[in-house]
Amino acid sequence: MNLLLKLQPKLKRNSQIASYNLFITLVSIDWGFLILMIIMIDRDNWIKFEAGCSLSLTEGHFVKLSLGNYCGDDPELKNIYVKRVDIRKIPMLSFTYRYKRRDIIKNYPVDEGLSMAMDLLSKDFRIATLITIDKELILELNREGKIVLRTKGRQRRPETLTYSHDRPKAKTIEAIGKRYLTDLGITDERGNVFRNAQDKYKQINHYIEILSPLIKDFSQEQIRKVVDMGSGKGYLTFGLYDYLSNVLRWNVEVLGVELREDLVSLCNEIAVKSEFNDLRFFQGTIEQHDVRGTDLLIALHACDTATDDAIFKGIEAGAKLIAVAPCCHKQIRKEIEKSKIENDLSFLTRYGIFLERQAEMITDGMRALILEYFGYKAKVMEFISDVHTPKNVLIVGSKSSKMTNEHRQRAILSQLRDIKVFFGIQYHHLERLLKLEI
Ligand SMILES: C[S@@+](CC[C@H](N)C(=O)[O-])C[C@H]1O[C@@H](n2cnc3c(N)ncnc32)[C@H](O)[C@@H]1O
Repeated sequence: MNLLLKLQPKLKRNSQIASYNLFITLVSIDWGFLILMIIMIDRDNWIKFEAGCSLSLTEGHFVKLSLGNYCGDDPELKNIYVKRVDIRKIPMLSFTYRYKRRDIIKNYPVDEGLSMAMDLLSKDFRIATLITIDKELILELNREGKIVLRTKGRQRRPETLTYSHDRPKAKTIEAIGKRYLTDLGITDERGNVFRNAQDKYKQINHYIEILSPLIKDFSQEQIRKVVDMGSGKGYLTFGLYDYLSNVLRWNVEVLGVELREDLVSLCNEIAVKSEFNDLRFFQGTIEQHDVRGTDLLIALHACDTATDDAIFKGIEAGAKLIAVAPCCHKQIRKEIEKSKIENDLSFLTRYGIFLERQAEMITDGMRALILEYFGYKAKVMEFISDVHTPKNVLIVGSKSSKMTNEHRQRAILSQLRDIKVFFGIQYHHLERLLKLEI
């Protein structure tokens, strides 16, 4: 007695090896034994193939999986290629759906992707080829409806297999061939960044990346003279000079102003050795430095009111761009503590850490308002992730083409007055330097 059966068993092995569909036609019950053997061989081949995919992915031998001989409903689809990629460091399977006129790429987590590939294979494709670094495994549904598995050795073994899809981000300041980076102890002679200098190197690049679009708002003619107040060991001063003169190829003069004589001498020596002819360092204070003609003024981590001194100098010079990353905020903190004023925020400021944070925000918020008062468009942004340093705020003032109108100036003064009253602040150092009547 003939019996026609269509079997599509689902096999669940574990989360990695998900499901498979087996399609087989049984012709006669009398052929029972033979049919059972066919099912078992088919099932075995299927499992072997799926396990081969899974294992090669786990062991890092997976090169490619292709699904061919499409027999589904989409008249445009030809085949599918699956690659293993890392996207933002997460292992994924990247499917390229190859249509007659275009390719579509979709990425899936590895387990989900493998399960999808096997599902697609069971429904719409008659052949799948798994390529690993040392062999090819071919699973085919032949004309007789049997699932056969063939293995082929591969002659050429790729030396290394990299799945990285995340293109390494090109650094704005390349490490190779930079004498100053070596002399500052960031790289060795061959341009390898020392392990303990990775953060510093990242910080230099990140800082340039933040400043770059702000600088590019101006033309080369507008940015001729740059001053770095409290330049310290000059990491960022050198980086900025390198960027302006070697990346942007602008003709600029860059000056570092630093209190410590030893650092000034060191930086000048390195500048000479690097043939950075328009980069110089001066020993002196921010307060006394003659800033006439300064177009871009920066001050990174100048302590407490030294940041106010720097902003004041920038405003005084009429600099087009002022960028400061403040350090500690003692002056305003002392003011708040001294007044002991009770307000709606006292429940927070009774804790030292919150008082610290509040003093920081008030100091910098008032600085931003004062910049605006003097015709600057002020921005406050994260300078660098606080993984690297807790001093991670950058205040930027870009000189706008028109002065802040009187109405807005009056409103700013009134707002500053209210802030002072609310927090019990007698004065803000910057307000004093600028002789603002608040
Ligand atoms: C924390 S370091 C920052 C150095 C550098 N800007 C950086 O970010 O790598 C602050 C530097 O500012 C200098 N400095 C502090 N107050 C200053 C002042 N009033 N005039 C000039 N330099 C000052 C210090 O000597 C120190 O080298």
